[in-house]
Formats: sequence, C-alpha cells, structure tokens
Amino acid sequence: MLHSNADSHSDEASTIVNGRTFRRLIGRDEISRRVAQLGKLISQDYCDKQPLFVAVLKGSLMFAADLARSLTIPCELEFVRASSYGNSMTAGARIKLRDFRKNAFEGRDIILVEDIVDSGRTISSISQRLNGYSPNSIRIATFLFKPEVYRADLALDYVGFEIPVKFVVGYGMDFAEQGRGLPDVYALDR
Ligand code: IMP
Ligand code: MG
Repeated sequence: MLHSNADSHSDEASTIVNGRTFRRLIGRDEISRRVAQLGKLISQDYCDKQPLFVAVLKGSLMFAADLARSLTIPCELEFVRASSYGNSMTAGARIKLRDFRKNAFEGRDIILVEDIVDSGRTISSISQRLNGYSPNSIRIATFLFKPEVYRADLALDYVGFEIPVKFVVGYGMDFAEQGRGLPDVYALDR
C-alpha cells in the first residue's frame, strides 16, 4: 500500500491548511501546461546562452524543478534563501540573502526563479544583491504574480499566472510552513 501524504493526495475543490479553508485556484494540469510553455519560451530566448537558474528557496522548489525539466537547453541551478522578518502572510520589510556561493554569479546570465511576486520587495532586493556579484544579465521568472499590489519597477520577464490579491498555498508555497506539497494552488477563502 502506498504511503498516504495528506498534502499530496488532496485533490479537492477546497482544503484546510493550518485550520484555514483554502479553495482551489489553479489545477495541476493547467500548471504543468503553463510551466511547459515557459520552459519552451526560455529555451528559445536563451538558445545561444547557458543561463544560470537561481531558485529562491523554499517556495520556488516545485516551479524550479518543473521548469528545469521543461527546458531544451542545458540547465545549471543555484539556490538562494531569502529570509524576511514578517508574519506568515506578508513578506517583511527587511530581507536577508543567505546560503549561496558568492562566486557563482560572475559573468553569468541569471534567471531568478521565484514562487510569487506580491509587492515586489523580495525579488527587487534579491536582484539588487545578485547584481553586486557582477553577473552578465538578470531576468526574472515567477510562477505567480499579483499585479494589483506590485510596487517595484523591476520588469518581470516570465510570469506563469497573474492572480488576484489573495493569499495562496500549494505548489511549493506555504502558510506557516504548511501546504507546500499540495500539487494544485489554493487561495484563502475569505
Ligand atoms: P513581496 O516581497 O511582497 O513581493 O512578497 C514575495 C514573498 O512573500 C514571496 O516570495 C513569498 O514568500 C511571500 N508571499 C507573498 N504572497 C504570498 C502568498 O499568497 N502565499 C505564500 N507566500 C506569499
Ligand atoms: Mg518566496
């Protein structure tokens, strides 16, 4: 008998994470179709380059893994971790980058891989930090984007889905560390 994981076996229109009810917003089939499209697009755009994918842990884990498998160009992966000092539903004002190799970025064509861009503060701050390590170029690939609350002036080059201003979990994204393993994306019901 298969081991049953409450997260990955949830295939319902709604799910409960940390005591809150979430409704399914984007299903796994739609996700895999869209990620495959992005992989194809990036492979075309970078056909004569060897980009370095820099995935922002932990939330971009699933997106980075699926994106990497949809590429037809060679794929190198690095990881950074961005800690923010906020509550569990908003990114904090101060962001610290850690767990990365400083000499990995010099001269590289970087594609930053994020789970979700909300105000844009996190991705701007990461992008700025990486710029300090002399890459050749930096582009952004984000699985989700909430355009209504975006406050940064950084261009988002590859966007999986634009979503309304709702708190979401699943496909790597968490609510107080729960829900990352859900194969679909769910939005807080309120
Ligand atoms: P920003 O700095 O306001 O753009 O927020 C981006 C970061 O906040 C993401 O990397 C996530 O870690 C977190 N975040 C923003 N919105 C959500 C959400 O709806 N669900 C889970 N995490 C989110
Ligand atoms: Mg994140």
